Amino acid sequence: MQLLFLLSLPLLSFLLSPTTALQCNNTLPASCLGPVPPLEPSTQAVADNLGSQTPLNNLSYSAARDAFDAFNIPTNPGLSSVVYTELNVPQGPTGNLNLHIYLPKHRGRKLVPAILYLHGGGWILGDPVVYQQAVVSLVHDTGAGVVFVNYTRAPEAVYPVAIEEAYSALQWLYAHAGEYGMDAKKVAFVGDSVGGHMAIGLSLLSLQRNTTLPLYQALIYPVTNLACESDSYTLFHDGPFLTAALIRWMIDAWTPDVSRRSEILASPLLAPINQLEGFPPTLVITAELDPLRDEGEVFAQHLAAAGVDTTELRAQGTFHGFWSVNALRQTPVARVARELVAVKLRGVFGTGY
Ligand SMILES: *[C@@H]1O[C@H](CO)[C@@H](O)[C@H](O)[C@H]1NC(C)=O
Ligand SMILES: *[C@@H]1O[C@H](CO)[C@@H](O)[C@H](O)[C@H]1NC(C)=O
Ligand SMILES: *[C@@H]1O[C@H](CO)[C@@H](O)[C@H](O)[C@H]1NC(C)=O
Ligand SMILES: *[C@@H]1O[C@H](CO)[C@@H](O)[C@H](O)[C@H]1NC(C)=O
Repeated sequence: MQLLFLLSLPLLSFLLSPTTALQCNNTLPASCLGPVPPLEPSTQAVADNLGSQTPLNNLSYSAARDAFDAFNIPTNPGLSSVVYTELNVPQGPTGNLNLHIYLPKHRGRKLVPAILYLHGGGWILGDPVVYQQAVVSLVHDTGAGVVFVNYTRAPEAVYPVAIEEAYSALQWLYAHAGEYGMDAKKVAFVGDSVGGHMAIGLSLLSLQRNTTLPLYQALIYPVTNLACESDSYTLFHDGPFLTAALIRWMIDAWTPDVSRRSEILASPLLAPINQLEGFPPTLVITAELDPLRDEGEVFAQHLAAAGVDTTELRAQGTFHGFWSVNALRQTPVARVARELVAVKLRGVFGTGY
């Protein structure tokens, strides 16, 4: 049975409202774009709590990491319900890949599919510990193993180092999946925020370098344009949570060389449509109250125009972070998003609905 059918119809129509195509245009004041939409009530309560904290971009990188960890580290990630291995592989642009592998506990002798996980946090924040809960539930929801790439963050490493590390991790996975009980023929990407940006980058590099593409990619509120000033940037300039100033702080740390920001690996929204041909089937989930919303939705339209099997969901009444921020993970819209990702992945992996 399709999980989505289990959801009540009013909830679905609230969550799955149609989206509109918006071009990048920051010439309008926010007041011309209509009222800021309301947050779903349990999400609003989390926003109120986060709103009282010092903006991350007003902190040092190290203090921002500590603050991000403080409201994200899961209290009970359920690590004992999976088989967990940490691995250092001497390859990639920095000479070391730090990988964290999570496998289903009861997997028998059959190889399980593999998810390469690329995490968010604006290139600067986020790490394996913060993401443990999200990753463990992905293992349970899909029956796949997850290879979490602990890429070198900015500003210690700048564009495109983290993408090249993730590319190297992908090649490692194709070569060594079987040694860990995973099936190299059943690989998908899941990435949130800048992790979605990295997943797109991996597909672009795989096409350019003629290496194997994944079966599927799920992009959760991805960054797709480092320059874009869209209507959603105007509307959600001050958040909730992800503000335009915070994104600029992140982009400045990640791509200090401004001239490289228009490269398609940095801003895939600028890629000509024909360069997206051959992309794997893709799910794009955006958040309604997110500066990145419009560029994500336009990118999904570009994929569809390139003939890519594309599914797009705008998660209504929520904001950037619902996928990973622990206080948001149990909100109704976050649960629907997780179920949709799981349904899609189980479909391509052939592990049923
Ligand atoms: C932005 O929107 C305004 C008002 O709709 C329009 O006049 C202007 O041409 C648009 N600019 C671009 C670059 O699309
Ligand atoms: C954060 O920093 C900006 C300048 O970078 C400043 O305008 C703003 O007042 C600061 N906000 C807080 C809450 O410290
Ligand atoms: C992630 O990688 C960094 C180096 O980039 C390392 O310092 C850190 O310990 C790693 N985190 C974990 C949980 O292994
Ligand atoms: C890409 O790889 C495939 C399979 O290895 C090969 O058949 C094909 O010739 C390659 N194409 C290019 C342009 O290198």
